[in-house]
Amino acid sequence: MRIDIIAVLPELLESPFQHSILKRAQQKGLLEVVVHDLRKFGKGKHRQIDDYQYGGGAGMVLMPEPVATCIDQLQAERRYDEVIYLTPDGERLDQGKANQLSLHRNLLLICGHYKGLDERIREHYVTREISIGDYVLSGGELAAAILVAALGRLLPGALFDETSALFVFFFYDMVSTEFYTRPADFRGRAVPPILLSGHDRAIDEWRHEQSLQRTRQRRPDLLDEVE
Ligand code: ADE
Repeated sequence: MRIDIIAVLPELLESPFQHSILKRAQQKGLLEVVVHDLRKFGKGKHRQIDDYQYGGGAGMVLMPEPVATCIDQLQAERRYDEVIYLTPDGERLDQGKANQLSLHRNLLLICGHYKGLDERIREHYVTREISIGDYVLSGGELAAAILVAALGRLLPGALFDETSALFVFFFYDMVSTEFYTRPADFRGRAVPPILLSGHDRAIDEWRHEQSLQRTRQRRPDLLDEVE
């Protein structure tokens, strides 16, 4: 999968893809992330990329020309399955959407800033708008990093343990069971004995029951969606 990201602050995206699973996915050739500095497409001495909004009001808007020029250049080189604008008023990212998006070959992400994109760019180029949650960040870069992090680990071969990609935190529509590692007794708190029993089937059943209980307690909304 290739992911191109158009950013106002590309520096914010220097580190997130250089570690752990995302680094390995890139080294293995499963993932390619290319960040494009929007300012390079700005005109004039200051390479202006934002301007006052028509109608007045506080906050600048990203000018359509630099964004369009950047997208045009990228689209001349490859076809994108989706052109995604990261914005708090987009559809909320969840595991199901991440799973679907991870099946694509080429994604183009656009990070907003200030008041965001000129509406004409949204209408003409953007095919999907995604929010990482109901709160407002000052720019879309960190949201883009989160989206890439959610997708990268799903790519076949990115994890050592293939099965864990989908199962670590969401077991279908449930939250995961609890996890323990050594020692079996930590400051007087023991690991549930079933996990030391060696009975794989009984352990699977216990974990499933734990997941269900934890989902009821923590995320009852997930069960509502299934029922
Ligand atoms: N840009 C600013 N806030 C955002 C959010 N919550 N999700 C996606 N992009 C954003």
